[in-house]
Amino acid sequence: MAINKIAVLTTGGDAPGMNPAIRSVVRYGINQKLEVMGVFRGWWGLINEELKILSSRSVSGIINQGGTILKTARCAEFRTEEGQKRAFEAVKKNNIDGLIVIGGNGSFAGAHEFYKRYNIPCVGIAASIDNDVNGIDYTIGTDTAVNTALEAIDKIRDTATSMERIFVVEVMGRESGFIALTVALAGGCEDVLIPEREVNLNAVCHDIVHGNLVGKMSWIIILAEGAGKADDIARQITDMTGLETRTVVLGHVQRGGRPTAFSRDLALHLGKAAVDCLIEGKKDLVVGIAAGRITEVNFEVAIKKKELKIDNFYRLVKTLT
Ligand code: F6P
Repeated sequence: MAINKIAVLTTGGDAPGMNPAIRSVVRYGINQKLEVMGVFRGWWGLINEELKILSSRSVSGIINQGGTILKTARCAEFRTEEGQKRAFEAVKKNNIDGLIVIGGNGSFAGAHEFYKRYNIPCVGIAASIDNDVNGIDYTIGTDTAVNTALEAIDKIRDTATSMERIFVVEVMGRESGFIALTVALAGGCEDVLIPEREVNLNAVCHDIVHGNLVGKMSWIIILAEGAGKADDIARQITDMTGLETRTVVLGHVQRGGRPTAFSRDLALHLGKAAVDCLIEGKKDLVVGIAAGRITEVNFEVAIKKKELKIDNFYRLVKTLT
């Protein structure tokens, strides 16, 4: 089937770099003589026909902006048969030949269902700060989020060292410890607690007390949000060690801000790659980067749980403390 008109949407949690991805899809799509439609507020916007034809000018000045000009949402309705039917009707009514879905694995699960049910060509672009898309090394936004968290941790280090304190710093990642592990290593942090590994506070406290005995007085423990709540962990550390503990929850700060060069370039390459996929008749897959190359991963594989190689990472954090 010839592709004349495509639509692009951003869904799920926003990630810095989504805007450059939209820019690439729109400008490259137009360059390839396609009509490009923007869908506002993710799947909700498709269901409710919040659509607009985008021109090259409509994506001017967004390459350096975090967030997404198309807005985004988590849409429970799209997970229902009725929601998908309405989305399909909107696609048909607006003569859309293919969809480009910029988001994470939750978004791709929806796109995969939609494709299976209605045979609408869908191509995903992996974008999520969690870096949890299976088969892909880096999602758009991860690098920016990690650097944002790291900048904060470097600042916390100044006060932790000066006042000889223990800090528990909670970073994002409900199901993935990627941000936590990466910033723990890059930030020279003393410990890291992630959902993929059993939390052993006895071991953490043993190290703190032992460290104190040999003159190590300040600690930064990185906690992925899926491994516990910073306040609970801090209280337990204080109970077990008798030492004062402070907490910082970085939260949604990590989702915003100017995308780094890496996040932007990745987004710009993947935007083009996704348009090429649709033109070539490819569908039901995600474009991303693996081993330094642009790669295509079937939705079915991309939505499986991504296994982090945590052991080496964790050992290195502890060895270098
Ligand atoms: O987009 C991923 C993410 O930022 C996770 O790291 C976090 O657990 C979740 O989204 C938070 O979602 P919300 O913004 O809907 O609270």
